[in-house]
Amino acid sequence: MSVNLKTEAARAALGHVEDGMRLGIGTGSTAEEFIKLLAARIAGGLSIIGVTTSMRSQVLCEELGVPTATLDEQPELDLTVDGADEIDPELSLIKGGGAALLREKIVAAASGRMIVIADSSKLVDTLGAFPLPIEVNRFGFEATKRAIAGAARELGLPPALRARMQGDAMLTTDEGHFLIDASFGRIADAMALSRALLDIPGVVQHGLFIGMAERALIADGTGVRELRAEAVSGETN
Ligand code: A5P
Repeated sequence: MSVNLKTEAARAALGHVEDGMRLGIGTGSTAEEFIKLLAARIAGGLSIIGVTTSMRSQVLCEELGVPTATLDEQPELDLTVDGADEIDPELSLIKGGGAALLREKIVAAASGRMIVIADSSKLVDTLGAFPLPIEVNRFGFEATKRAIAGAARELGLPPALRARMQGDAMLTTDEGHFLIDASFGRIADAMALSRALLDIPGVVQHGLFIGMAERALIADGTGVRELRAEAVSGETN
C-alpha cells in the first residue's frame, strides 16, 4: 500500500471525527497516517481525547501533540479508527500484524463505533491468507502452541504455527505476551475458530475481529469507497 493511499483512507476517516470525541487510535502504518492528519486538525483547533492501542502510537501522539488518556481514564469511547491486515465482505477482520491486537480489540470493544482504514489490497473474499496473529501467555508457550495445533486440526485447518520473532528473540507484546502467527489458509468459519482458540487457557486473544467494524474506508487509487458491514453478528468471547 503506498503512503498516498494510506493517507487518503486516513483523511476520509477524519470526516467522522467530531469536536469533543473520545477517540480510539489504532496501530500500524495506516493508523500513523491518521494520527498525523489528526494532529494537524488539533493544531487547527479540534478538541478530542485519544486512547492509543500501542506504545508505538502513544509515542507518535505525544510527539505530535495529540492529547491522550488511558482507557481507565476514558473507559467509554465514541469512535475507534484503526487499520487491518484483511477485511472480508462482512467487515470481519484479521488484525495484529503490528503486534497490537490485544489492546486494539479492547479499545474497539470499548468504542461505540469502529472504522477501518485501508487500501483495496486488504479486501478478501475469505479471511486467512494473512497469517492469523494469536497472543498467548509466555507461561506454557509450547503447551499452548500444541493446543492451538490440535484445535486447528479439529476444524480441518493446517496447524502451521510460527512464533513471532524480533531479531533472535521471541517478540513480546506491549502486554508482555508472545505471539503465534497461524497460517491457516482459508478460514471458512471464523466464529468457530474464534471460539476454539478462546477455549484454550493459554490463549489471551486472537486477531479475528468479527462484527466489530461498522464501516471500512478503502482507498483504491481512484478515490475512497465506504463499505458498510453487510451483517454484523457481534463477537462473543
Ligand atoms: C496492528 O497490530 C495491526 O492490527 C494493524 O492495524 C494492521 O497490521 C494494519 O497495519 P498497516 O496499516 O501497517 O497495514
